[in-house]
Amino acid sequence: MKHIKLGGLDVSRIGLGAMGMSAAYTGAGADDAESLRTVRRALDLGVTLLDTAETYGPFTNEELLGRAVKGRRDEVVLATKFGRISHLHGGARRLDSSPATIRIAVEGSLRRLGTDHIDLYYQHRVDPDTPIEETVAALAELVAEGKIRHIGLSAAGPATIRRAHAVHPIAALQSEYSLWTRDPEAEVLPLTQELGIGFVPFSPLGHGFLTGAIRSTAQLDDNDWRKNNPRFTGENFRHNLRIADEVQAVAAESGATPAQVALAWLLAKADTIAPIPGTKRVSRVEENSAADGIELTAEQTGKLDTLTRALGSTHEEADMRLIGR
Ligand SMILES: NC(=O)c1ccc[n+]([C@@H]2O[C@H](COP(=O)([O-])OP(=O)(O)OC[C@H]3O[C@@H](n4cnc5c(N)ncnc54)[C@H](OP(=O)(O)O)[C@@H]3O)[C@@H](O)[C@H]2O)c1
Repeated sequence: MKHIKLGGLDVSRIGLGAMGMSAAYTGAGADDAESLRTVRRALDLGVTLLDTAETYGPFTNEELLGRAVKGRRDEVVLATKFGRISHLHGGARRLDSSPATIRIAVEGSLRRLGTDHIDLYYQHRVDPDTPIEETVAALAELVAEGKIRHIGLSAAGPATIRRAHAVHPIAALQSEYSLWTRDPEAEVLPLTQELGIGFVPFSPLGHGFLTGAIRSTAQLDDNDWRKNNPRFTGENFRHNLRIADEVQAVAAESGATPAQVALAWLLAKADTIAPIPGTKRVSRVEENSAADGIELTAEQTGKLDTLTRALGSTHEEADMRLIGR
């Protein structure tokens, strides 16, 4: 597995997103034994970057990851996130990146992950009530104390990224980026390159859609997050199936799977990019990790660059408002 740098942090250029093992998607939490095997198989395959957040579960995903890396902590770059749970005012899903909440959050994450340091600690969403300078100053103190090694932001807008980076180097920006979500290309990806910040695409498989495995919303449980997502509903979903077909066509031609094509396309965009495809299955972590060895031709990349445009926003309206601030 090839490695890249996120700021000063060395990682395998394909990581593993653990969210779906405990939250959001059909089958989450149903088979922890397979999830544990999946994480360990990823490590065997050379994946080092593991991604979680205190809000996944909440808390249970960090606990699961802590169990999975027990005895193998030194092989792993552990990334987690704070800021979507207020530990002082109001609890779950309330944005809070105040220094006081960060202090509580980091101790909980360290305990659940079973470690004395977090390698990459992200603010999960920008908190409109706490200036980013205060948040990053609090994180810089945690770096100085050795509790965290590197600082990340997620779904932040360009002005916030610049302000944050002026207080303390930001190692990575984690934002949605994939064949059907190209928004970062206009401004944010170039900015991260200018500032020497790594880019970690989340949902690089389009929440599974780009793999072609989801052909009908009837496949999704009622409590599956995608059930209400604009891209997965009604006419949008039917239109968007064309995109999955187009990815499938490139995959057939290149001898790779659609998931591998989606990841190889991201990897070819820059050598500062490390996607974190999510899966809770051993067979899929094997498939996704093997995208490291896929080279697309210029013609294939050209076709992928001009796929049919997706209909529907990437999130429901309330969640869209939290992005790019
Ligand atoms: N910072 C943020 O705000 C944010 C937001 C969302 C996600 N994330 C992070 O990004 C990670 C990845 O994003 P994501 O999980 O939302 O989306 P994703 O990686 O685009 O897709 C995950 C979905 O695809 C399926 N899948 C994975 N590999 C597959 C394959 N080879 N063939 C067919 N289906 C496959 C998975 O199902 P199975 O599990 O059943 O294989 C799962 O339903 C998350 O785990 C999380 O760590 C961060």
